[in-house]
Amino acid sequence: MLSKLWFLLLLACITCLLLYMTFVERSGLQALKMNLMHLQTVYKTTGQSLDNVKILIKPSCNATFLIWIITSYAGDPSARSALRRAYTNEELQALEIRRIFLLGTLNNDAERKTHISQNALLDESQRFNDILQGDFLDTYRNLTRKHLMGLRWTLNNCKHVKYIMKMDDDIVVNIYGIMENLRSGIVEKDSLTGYVLKNMVPVREPANKWYVSKMEYTGDTYPDFVSGWLYIMHPQVANRLINYVESSNEFFWIDDVFVTGILRHALNIKIKDISELYTTDYRYLECCIKGRASLLKCEFLVGPNGGNTELQVRFKEFAKFCHTNCSARTDSNLVGKRCVVVYKEPNLHKGSVQISPVVL
Ligand SMILES: *[C@@H]1O[C@H](CO)[C@@H](O)[C@H](O)[C@H]1NC(C)=O
Ligand SMILES: *[C@@H]1O[C@H](CO)[C@@H](O)[C@H](O)[C@H]1NC(C)=O
Ligand SMILES: *[C@@H]1O[C@H](CO)[C@@H](O)[C@H](O)[C@H]1NC(C)=O
Repeated sequence: MLSKLWFLLLLACITCLLLYMTFVERSGLQALKMNLMHLQTVYKTTGQSLDNVKILIKPSCNATFLIWIITSYAGDPSARSALRRAYTNEELQALEIRRIFLLGTLNNDAERKTHISQNALLDESQRFNDILQGDFLDTYRNLTRKHLMGLRWTLNNCKHVKYIMKMDDDIVVNIYGIMENLRSGIVEKDSLTGYVLKNMVPVREPANKWYVSKMEYTGDTYPDFVSGWLYIMHPQVANRLINYVESSNEFFWIDDVFVTGILRHALNIKIKDISELYTTDYRYLECCIKGRASLLKCEFLVGPNGGNTELQVRFKEFAKFCHTNCSARTDSNLVGKRCVVVYKEPNLHKGSVQISPVVL
């Protein structure tokens, strides 16, 4: 009887000890985490250094109002083609806009898979004079090089431009609406203007193509940044970003997080949110286009193409027609309220989790 009591007492003691140890360990971890979080104010990133890239194809720039730089995959000309048909170089020139596609190079393997050769890219460049190609492999993990190359080239070549707009080539845009907003002063000095993303976390799942290791980025969250889908700034801001990055050793491969988040944060540059002009679902853009019949404009100027490059062309036709012929929607009649679509997870930046829709 007594030994049984002793045994129970011993058991209770061991349980207490175990509980205590777990607790101590937990709080120790907690303290460590807090320390790490503190350290993270200096966003530590490691990776390749950003020596100036060699330029293989170099276009001219004589824009005076807006330079529109678009990251584009060398191996897929379809989005470039749709953009050129939507907004021709002549039309853009009349609007004092210069559009440039930013490309890398394809290795033999990629050339074979895509059926795009370097000669085909040279031909494309001669026809349209709108390609800037850097001497680096066109891969996801070289996106930051591409982005920075575009900004560096702009600063060196487009001396008199008032605004820089950076976009991804799978994004649909109403240029007339953007121009109207620029003229009314939507872009402030010393700030980045776009879709602001806050408290985004790195993908820590190694199987994901956007996987970010602790070595690449130590923090648990990214600094606030604007989505690389489309953002706008004054050249003075780009100048600060580029000068800073060229004199530091910092590098992180997810381009929007790095340029508009990490670098921007280090320089204390403000961000301005204009997310009300963006939709994260291409089906809202389809609803916008339908509004043409009722002579109604659309509150959305930017959105994804949903994998259909031709949406750019149709949305542009709608935008051009409605810019002069349609009236603005009232609050209760906004596309965002009227257009009924099944909710889909938005995928606003490359590092966010990709959810592929299930096709039945
Ligand atoms: C810009 O350059 C193009 C040729 O590249 C030329 O046709 C056009 O007139 C120039 N525009 C201005 C404003 O100088
Ligand atoms: C980036 O481009 C360089 C130069 O072509 C290449 O050596 C490197 O492998 C590329 N990096 C990645 C991660 O694709
Ligand atoms: C505005 O509507 C008129 C009449 O339908 C049409 O002729 C004109 O081309 C439209 N404007 C634009 C920019 O499409």
